[in-house]
Amino acid sequence: MTATALKDLEITDLRVAFDGFTAVDGAALRVGPGDLRFLIGPNGAGKTTLVDAVTGLAKATGTVRFGPHDLLGRPVHRIARLGIGRTFQTATVFENLSVLANLDIAAGAARRPHTLLRRRRGVPEEIEHALETTGLAAARDRQAGVLSHGQKQWLEIGMLLVQNVQLLLLDEPVAGMSHEEREQTGQLLRRIGQDRTIVVIEHDMDFVRTFATSVTVLHAGRVLSEGTVAQVRADPRVQEVYLGETGAPAGADREA
Ligand SMILES: Nc1ncnc2c1ncn2[C@@H]1O[C@H](COP(=O)(O)OP(=O)(O)OP(=O)(O)O)[C@@H](O)[C@H]1O
Ligand SMILES: [Mg+2]
Repeated sequence: MTATALKDLEITDLRVAFDGFTAVDGAALRVGPGDLRFLIGPNGAGKTTLVDAVTGLAKATGTVRFGPHDLLGRPVHRIARLGIGRTFQTATVFENLSVLANLDIAAGAARRPHTLLRRRRGVPEEIEHALETTGLAAARDRQAGVLSHGQKQWLEIGMLLVQNVQLLLLDEPVAGMSHEEREQTGQLLRRIGQDRTIVVIEHDMDFVRTFATSVTVLHAGRVLSEGTVAQVRADPRVQEVYLGETGAPAGADREA
């Protein structure tokens, strides 16, 4: 198996319980490379918990496979080493370090210490590539702390790219972004999603409509509906769940 082998994420009967409360209750999901899958659902539906389970942060039962690998029960770092990465709603970059240094540290997690940036001449190819892909090339020497909210999210995505992540799980990446940043983020996800598997948790239905190739609706820890944006919007069960919520995805009270 090569590091760039295309792989499916396949989840079956996933369950996560916290002190008797079942946050994920038998969820099942299959996402393949080239798909830009959006995971939507009301607050508390279990979206973040599902990602926590896939990445080893939450103890779960059921099965989670990525390509040939069973993920459940593996520690976080071993799951990361299989090419699986996630972002959090609050970007977790090193604010005092430059964009370049952040990328170098991320890349360093996948290589030996003696190749750290200060001992090398020039910038490694994968870092140069990530700078270009994320649109951060001109900001490479800026402190991460002074970047815009959008740029920080892109940096975090870049930090996954330099680790050659093949499965990206992004938790509300465009929350708090300007309209233009959202658009740029969508284009970025399209670019990197061509040969990777991407799952995006999102509440912003304009963003979902524009960029999702498929949507899974989670409700009370279970998959309520799945399909294209149009299909899930037309699903009466989805409309029912979202009735009265602002930003209703099904447009229950509007036309599609
Ligand atoms: N560590 C925890 N301990 C106890 N309950 C938790 C824990 N983490 C999450 N929960 C509960 O599990 C349920 C699902 O939470 P989760 O964060 O996965 O929802 P979500 O779909 O991501 O919601 P949101 O859209 O608000 O981010 C919620 O009821 C939440 O309160
Ligand atoms: Mg969440």
